[in-house]
Amino acid sequence: MTAVTDTALQVRPLSGWTGALIDGVDISVPLSSEARSVIQDALHQWKVVFFRDQVLDHAAQIAFGAQFGDVTPGHPYEGDSAPPEFPQIHTVSPAAYDHRYGSRYRKKQSPNGPKWHADVTPLINPPSHSILRAEAVPPYGGDTQFVNIAAVYQGLSESVRALIDELRAEHRFGADVAADRSSEKVGDLVRTNPLASIHPVVRVHPDTGERVVYVNPSFTREIVDLAPRESRHVLDLLFEEIGRPEYSVRFKWAPGSVAFWDNRAALHLAPQDFEHVDGDRILHRITLVGDVPVGVDGRPSESISGEFFGAA
Ligand SMILES: [Fe+2]
Repeated sequence: MTAVTDTALQVRPLSGWTGALIDGVDISVPLSSEARSVIQDALHQWKVVFFRDQVLDHAAQIAFGAQFGDVTPGHPYEGDSAPPEFPQIHTVSPAAYDHRYGSRYRKKQSPNGPKWHADVTPLINPPSHSILRAEAVPPYGGDTQFVNIAAVYQGLSESVRALIDELRAEHRFGADVAADRSSEKVGDLVRTNPLASIHPVVRVHPDTGERVVYVNPSFTREIVDLAPRESRHVLDLLFEEIGRPEYSVRFKWAPGSVAFWDNRAALHLAPQDFEHVDGDRILHRITLVGDVPVGVDGRPSESISGEFFGAA
């Protein structure tokens, strides 16, 4: 297929800090270099971009992502749950999570989460970007929220920024719900193949040079340079800042909607408000190979357990 010209591309910001809707482009066909750079620039500024009414199958979603980086396997823990022939696809639905981790584990997350997170930050090189497309959604409920963590950093007072610039934190898969004690499948996963890394609390974005608050309540277990009590209070402060509504946007899905976000500049959150609503919520995610985070002092992250997460 030949690339189309994209004079019609429009970027419409959706909130003061986070998220823009991109109109006038069909992402199921190869992008022109102009379209690719409009999307890239919008990601740098708005951290997440959205497309509506796209017609994509698994192959077309992977081909779209491959124009922005190398596509990873669906998830480091899911050799057996990707659709046949598409190891890059990670399906997001209650049924997929029950199959993958166990339903008691999933429901334990439900009351308050899954919480704010970037995808798979326990890896030494968490995915740089995620691309999520909606196949089916309930008539209401099941939105996703995104927050700009460069804006969160900028909003902190100077002395707090100076304090956290020097800190590092452990990120561990399942830390928030003590998954290592679970008798379900997730327990086997984290006991036989724990995923954990030490990342800077403030990460320097490799493209924009912006500093971002790089902790999240799903995966960050503790700040390793502080006493446990100090760590808990500093993390609580940062998590409260991350949750401030003015930094976030809320996206309402429809079949054919696509969200494309930068995990190094945004966190996301899926409120679990749809389980009582009739109608499936089935989305499909791919992720792009990420770099090893680097802190303000130039020091890279260190792996505790788990392999580099390369291309599928
Ligand atoms: Fe996620």
